[in-house]
Amino acid sequence: MNPARLYDLMAPIYGPAWRAIPPWRRYSMAALPWLPDEGAVLEIGPGPGLVHEILAQRAALTVGLDISAGMLRRTRERLQARGLPARLVRGAAQALPFADASFDAIVMTFVFSAIPDGERAMRAFARILRPGGVLILVDACIPNDDNIPARVLARMWTLFGDQMRDEATLMRATGLTVIAKREFGAFHSIRITVGRKK
Ligand SMILES: C[S@@+](CC[C@H](N)C(=O)[O-])C[C@H]1O[C@@H](n2cnc3c(N)ncnc32)[C@H](O)[C@@H]1O
Repeated sequence: MNPARLYDLMAPIYGPAWRAIPPWRRYSMAALPWLPDEGAVLEIGPGPGLVHEILAQRAALTVGLDISAGMLRRTRERLQARGLPARLVRGAAQALPFADASFDAIVMTFVFSAIPDGERAMRAFARILRPGGVLILVDACIPNDDNIPARVLARMWTLFGDQMRDEATLMRATGLTVIAKREFGAFHSIRITVGRKK
């Protein structure tokens, strides 16, 4: 099944599930402290918009891009209900429709592992970041200690088509400086990696 269709089908249950499982919410929110105080923020894969709602309250300009029309519809409804601006674009992370140096931050929570060509996508992220801009990735991982429960979880995600990647290596390969990398959550199976464009 094509990924956009799959996420369209997931859209009605994704938000309620996210709210019902507090650790999940906490994992996604781990991205927030790394956001700059000012400037333009792009969230790729906002899903139903639970993180995006907070970004839209904090940043001067927030844009959301997602392959799923169903997910974007939920984000739009969420923002409109709160009187927040909704700048939402349907598109794929691997073909970003933005000019060079457009954003001060790019945020992705549980999205990068779903993107097919990680190297190409990373080059595209670096291209649209401004100098000094940050790329914040929160995703499932195989942790450094290689513990078995985390490996089982990672295997489960790969069965859904996700790829467990070394985000820091990919960031460095595109010229970003890795300024933070931390494993956390259940069995250290979640990783936040933050890169900065020189
Ligand atoms: C697992 S959900 C994560 C949603 C939210 N960021 C969170 O933390 O709960 C993945 C989201 O990324 C979107 N997505 C998946 N692959 C994508 C791609 N290649 N380009 C843009 N969005 C994508 C999906 O439609 C979905 O909304």
